[in-house]
Amino acid sequence: MTPLHVVVLAAGQGKRMRSDLPKVLHLLAGRPLLSHVIDAAGGLGTARVHVVYGHGGGAVREAMTAADIEWVEQREQLGTGHAVAQAMPGIPDDATVLVLYGDVPLVNPATLHETATLAGGSGIALITAAVDDPGGYGRIVRDTDGHVLGIVEEGDASDEQRAIAEINTGILAARAGKLRGWLRGLSRDNAQGEYYLTGVVARAVEEGASVRTVPPEAIEEVLGVNDRVQLTVLERFHQRRLAETLMREGASLADPARIDVRGRVRTGRDVFIDVNVVLEGDVVLGDRVSIGPGCVIMDTVIEPDTEIRAHCVIEGAHVGVGCLVGPFARLRPDAQLARGVHVGNFVEVKNATLGEGSKANHLTYIGDSRVGRDVNVGAGVVTCNYDGTNKHTTVIGDNVFIGSGVMLVAPLTVHAGATIGAGSTIGKDTPPDALTVARAPQKFFGNWRRPRKR
Ligand code: UD1
Ligand code: CA
Repeated sequence: MTPLHVVVLAAGQGKRMRSDLPKVLHLLAGRPLLSHVIDAAGGLGTARVHVVYGHGGGAVREAMTAADIEWVEQREQLGTGHAVAQAMPGIPDDATVLVLYGDVPLVNPATLHETATLAGGSGIALITAAVDDPGGYGRIVRDTDGHVLGIVEEGDASDEQRAIAEINTGILAARAGKLRGWLRGLSRDNAQGEYYLTGVVARAVEEGASVRTVPPEAIEEVLGVNDRVQLTVLERFHQRRLAETLMREGASLADPARIDVRGRVRTGRDVFIDVNVVLEGDVVLGDRVSIGPGCVIMDTVIEPDTEIRAHCVIEGAHVGVGCLVGPFARLRPDAQLARGVHVGNFVEVKNATLGEGSKANHLTYIGDSRVGRDVNVGAGVVTCNYDGTNKHTTVIGDNVFIGSGVMLVAPLTVHAGATIGAGSTIGKDTPPDALTVARAPQKFFGNWRRPRKR
């Protein structure tokens, strides 16, 4: 195999997005359009990815720092042929060049692989598709035997050519040595006054080189994003596919049209996901996990047999086996629940561990805390972790019972087996296995009367 060099065109402004953000940085499934293309290119065993940038180049480069990319600037946008030519100095003659677009995000690696392979040693291969409405696209012109003669752009096409349903998707592959020569032969003598990349096809035909065409498996893999309407069309198509992947891996979805995956989700068997769930970043769902409606789960591991009830927001957490969370719970970064923990409604947990079998079922804040096993945290308990300047830690031992409405003023240790009376404000460490109550004594005013209205 010759080395594969992918050239991604991303210099266009994307005016129709009406956005300050460069088009290729708009998000699809939570990631920039361009990163979808880069990932697809990476999956082909590519030797090098060259991204041709222009408008908003600084922002684009900054957003893509993680990927190993050869950045090529195109100062003036003189056309797609000119754009590819900018990358050619960095590509050896014996390489195969595959041209992709930063705004065509759902390219299919299998189709791309076939295209690169079909280009062969001296020919050219393009992805083309027959569509109902070819308006705006370059049309594939063939002779009576069906051989490709060239591509004619909409603005340069005759009425007869405009009637052709087979369109150029723009994606093509050719041997670098050949492509270099064909690009040199391009002129700007056309309706847009640009160097059209599509012109290389006619050059190849003139030389007698083979021109092969490859159909996409689904039209969506070659659709570009020009405006926000098209962006949502691709988003919905992609989400449908992601939902189908989850189902094939063992998750039942209440409605595959009402889940959004914005990252990588690994799911176990017999998982159930109810409607309107958003999964972001890296999410792991163990076997038999159940996610209630309206949950947002980001960068979180949920171990088997855990039930997340409706409307929970969970980020950066680790939820153990057989836990019960929600409804309306919030787990913030570094919330770590051991096996069998219950976290109920309006409970917030941040940077805290809850030991096996511990429960905080109602209206509670647990932050910067280490909670032991079999602890019962009553309703309305607050770990007062912040003094306005610094955060402090609360340590709660095993088998502690904390009554309702208790303020735990950190730094603080509640030793194992302690019982804290409801309504207490605890500012000093409490002894093990004892009852601590810290609240004002109750008073009785026998001859008090309610004020009367004047
Ligand atoms: C191009 C093809 C057309 C095809 C269509 C598919 C040409 C001449 N025409 O037309 O046959 O049907 O794509 O969508 O190639 N770009 C640069 N630098 C430039 C010009 C463009 O990087 O100087 C990038 C743009 O950012 C864009 C892509 O190339 O991502 C395509 O450019 P665009 O002007 O949209 O091409 P079309 O006119 O749509
Ligand atoms: Ca154009």
